[in-house]
Amino acid sequence: MRKKIVAGNWKMNKTPSEAVELVNMLKPLCANEDVDVVFCVPAIDIIPAMEAAKGSNIAIGAENMYYEESGAYTGEISPAMLVDAGVKYVVLGHSERREYFAETNETVNKKMLKAFEHGITPIMCCGETLEQREQGVTMDFIRQQVKVGFLNVTADQAKTAVIAYEPIWAIGTGKTATTEQAQEVCAEIRKCIAEIYDDATAAAIRIQYGGSVNAKTAPDLFAQADIDGGLVGGASLKADFGQIVNYNK
Ligand code: G3P
Repeated sequence: MRKKIVAGNWKMNKTPSEAVELVNMLKPLCANEDVDVVFCVPAIDIIPAMEAAKGSNIAIGAENMYYEESGAYTGEISPAMLVDAGVKYVVLGHSERREYFAETNETVNKKMLKAFEHGITPIMCCGETLEQREQGVTMDFIRQQVKVGFLNVTADQAKTAVIAYEPIWAIGTGKTATTEQAQEVCAEIRKCIAEIYDDATAAAIRIQYGGSVNAKTAPDLFAQADIDGGLVGGASLKADFGQIVNYNK
């Protein structure tokens, strides 16, 4: 049985002092032993957020990292820096990074391999545009993102990974995918993992849905056979996140 994982993606929101306030506010609301709870926060918020989350069930994650070990890469954060800070999860290949920072399936793959090498669990994002959905190429596009993203990743590593299916047209738009649409794609992603590896790997990997998840939509989405939780943007910055984490109560 896969344990659900609900992660907040704060994106470029919250200063370090605001991060401490938000963690303190959400801490008592996010207790749920059935769910792994992760707050993926801006790099500068990682250490204060981690301090504030001490003694709770909340793990602090990063929103990005670079694939080189160290050196002349001004502005980047290395895997070792995240590990030293106590980070366990990193969001990789979010559509906003693909769109605004030229990330490709290939760079996402390099980051995936580095994350595993350093023992950080990647939350690898994939998802189609509205145009692709309308053209009927959603599955092909996502299969390609998954195949390249997992190139040279071993089955044992893949079993520990998290994939977040985030249709781009549902991000920040208030337009959640229907439970059927979300389940259909998450099932296809699991099938793709079974084809790359085997049934055991496909059964172990956790697949989240992301895109305008809120306290109302979370229970139905997370009850779907192939949806193992959510990656939440806007609603992760509010008390609603506690309700999303406690979707089953
Ligand atoms: O990574 C989470 C995300 O992109 C969804 O954002 O604001 O639609 O929940 P939001």
